[in-house]
Amino acid sequence: MKILVTGGAGFIGSHLVDELVEKGHEVAVIDNLSTGKKDNLNPNAEFHELDINSDGIVDILKNGNFTHVIHQAAQVRVTRSLEDPVLDATSNIVGSINLLENCRRYGVERFVYGNSGGAMSGNQDNLPMKESHPVSPESPYGVSKHTVEHYLAIYNKLYNLDYVSLRYPNVYGPRQDSSGEGGVVAIFCNKLVNDERPVIFGDGEQTRDFTYVKDVVNATVMALEKGSGEFNISTSRETSVNELYEKLLEISGKNMEPVHGNEREGELRRSVLDNSKAMEGLGWEPIVSLDEGLKLTFDYFNRRKE
Ligand SMILES: NC(=O)c1ccc[n+]([C@@H]2O[C@H](COP(=O)([O-])OP(=O)(O)OC[C@H]3O[C@@H](n4cnc5c(N)ncnc54)[C@H](O)[C@@H]3O)[C@@H](O)[C@H]2O)c1
Repeated sequence: MKILVTGGAGFIGSHLVDELVEKGHEVAVIDNLSTGKKDNLNPNAEFHELDINSDGIVDILKNGNFTHVIHQAAQVRVTRSLEDPVLDATSNIVGSINLLENCRRYGVERFVYGNSGGAMSGNQDNLPMKESHPVSPESPYGVSKHTVEHYLAIYNKLYNLDYVSLRYPNVYGPRQDSSGEGGVVAIFCNKLVNDERPVIFGDGEQTRDFTYVKDVVNATVMALEKGSGEFNISTSRETSVNELYEKLLEISGKNMEPVHGNEREGELRRSVLDNSKAMEGLGWEPIVSLDEGLKLTFDYFNRRKE
């Protein structure tokens, strides 16, 4: 397969590129390095430093003979989407359409989209949440990420472009951003390795479906060949922020009380995605336990500090 990965210098995208290269695929990456890092780039993948909204996309798709596109590039910060919804929509909606237009013009067969399961739903009624749960985003980011699914359905209807949209939960693992709006696992690990006390917002009983990046990558690679439509990619297990912190404390061998901050406005109380459709439709299942994944992630941040 000849595969184009957008966002291939980012957290999930770079792990994905490593796996595709390892499997012997020919891979090219488009990334504007807005949050992605050059250090994450796989040297065996061709790299184009480019915005998905730029005209340069035309030549890359025209000359690349790509059969498959995996679209991970996005403005990923919820707070940024609230401050600047135009930028968020330009990147996530218009950029995706620009990509889709060039895919259909230049013969791409299949398009795999990295979507967000939690951001599109708001507070969830029936847990774990199925793909059929009503859409009710709480942020411009949730709207922009979800909107692309409508374009995927239309491009499929009008131009026969096969697609899969993978709805990710809270993905964690090495290379995740540990700054202000990064993932909670990365932030906690970074604080603990630096002997700083992490902040737990509210009572810490809010829950998330923490899924290790390697499992998400496996599902995304499988979706290159299987499935059609939307799939939750998740563990289907709820873990509270307090439980997560306890596990990381144990792994770190440290004894540090967290700081308790105010509950964050608009934060979901519980979020967990039902993965049964992906287990049946893609033949995928998560294999990395939370304990194992947290250990791998903590070790990465610990090594990086040295
Ligand atoms: N990490 C999670 O928990 C999670 C959860 C749900 C969905 N997702 C989705 O997964 C995808 C990857 O997220 P991530 O966590 O790896 O974030 P990330 O910020 O590490 O990766 C996004 C990458 O896209 C690039 N990018 C952003 N805008 C671009 C543009 N306009 N043109 C070209 N490149 C651009 C960035 O430089 C970065 O390398 C995103 O689409 C995100 O919405 C992530």
